[in-house]
Amino acid sequence: MEQLLNKIEAYKSEIDNAAAADAKALEEFRIKWLGTKGIVKEIMGEMKNVAPEKKKEAGQLLNEFKQYTEAKFELLKEASANGQSVAAASIDLSLPGDVMPIGSRHPITLMRNKIVSIFQRLGFAVAEGPEIEDDWHNFGALNLPAHHPARDMQDTFYIQQNPDWVLRTHTSSVQIREMEKGNLPIRMLMPGRVYRNETISARSHCFFHQVEGLYIDENVSFADLKQTLYFFVKEMYGKDVKVRFRPSYFPFTEPSAEMDVSCFICGGSGCNICKKTGWVEILGCGMVHPNVLTNCGIDPNKYSGFAFGMGIERPAMLKYGINDIRLFSENDVRFLKQFTSAI
Ligand code: DAH
Repeated sequence: MEQLLNKIEAYKSEIDNAAAADAKALEEFRIKWLGTKGIVKEIMGEMKNVAPEKKKEAGQLLNEFKQYTEAKFELLKEASANGQSVAAASIDLSLPGDVMPIGSRHPITLMRNKIVSIFQRLGFAVAEGPEIEDDWHNFGALNLPAHHPARDMQDTFYIQQNPDWVLRTHTSSVQIREMEKGNLPIRMLMPGRVYRNETISARSHCFFHQVEGLYIDENVSFADLKQTLYFFVKEMYGKDVKVRFRPSYFPFTEPSAEMDVSCFICGGSGCNICKKTGWVEILGCGMVHPNVLTNCGIDPNKYSGFAFGMGIERPAMLKYGINDIRLFSENDVRFLKQFTSAI
């Protein structure tokens, strides 16, 4: 009986390793194991040598072995019908696969894409510029000559090796680069990272992101600016959100304004986000100053245009309920993996 058991085990492992690359090999397998003179038949014949009290047990074993062999034959048959190799056939396709970790987009990227996609529907194209800028593109051409007091509005990082170079303090520098190209009309959106020498805290960082908008053509008016931004606000914050413009000052626009939207957290009744005012400041804007057009070689008597600039961090913080700006740049995956869905 023991002998029989050992024999069956040895045959089983031989069957486990058996392969059938083609129909011929398959037939060989059948003849060797299941044929009229095959191993299964032969081993069945050993029943007669088994002691009577063990016959029942042995019969069971032998039957199992027969089924085992037949099952392997079916597997090989199926595989060769599908043109697969046996190695592949012995893979259990019903097992769950390995999970492939899927990355997620950064919340700043999500917000940037959302903003860009809204303006793209109005025909705005996207442009980018360098983060290390010269004084002319970051300040001079934007109507901020040397010693202009408005330079103090932005704490600038200067590049030690070249006093003419700065880390751009705003994306308005890209406006200049686009206007200098002279391809009019211009309808551009310019997202990017900007730098300011500010103390890092939960509310401010030494680098952050902005999106700049610029539209230059003949007969562009402040009404065009307002309608464009109304459209943006409705798409971004919903139809019920109210908009207001406050007169402001930027050297590169005249007139200039800041735009607020009614607080989309509390609906305008007053909360911590809007500091109980019911309004949240979203962006700065205005009509491009004639000096800026002239600086870029555009005739201000023929062309006019509007520009606007907005931060990305703040809307993203409001949208996702993030209360510390530093989280955006710490690259903690526990934070980053929470933003898998598109906005
Ligand atoms: N550059 C300004 C800033 O960084 C934002 C801005 C205001 C951009 C008015 C504009 C504009 O294009 O017209 O604060």
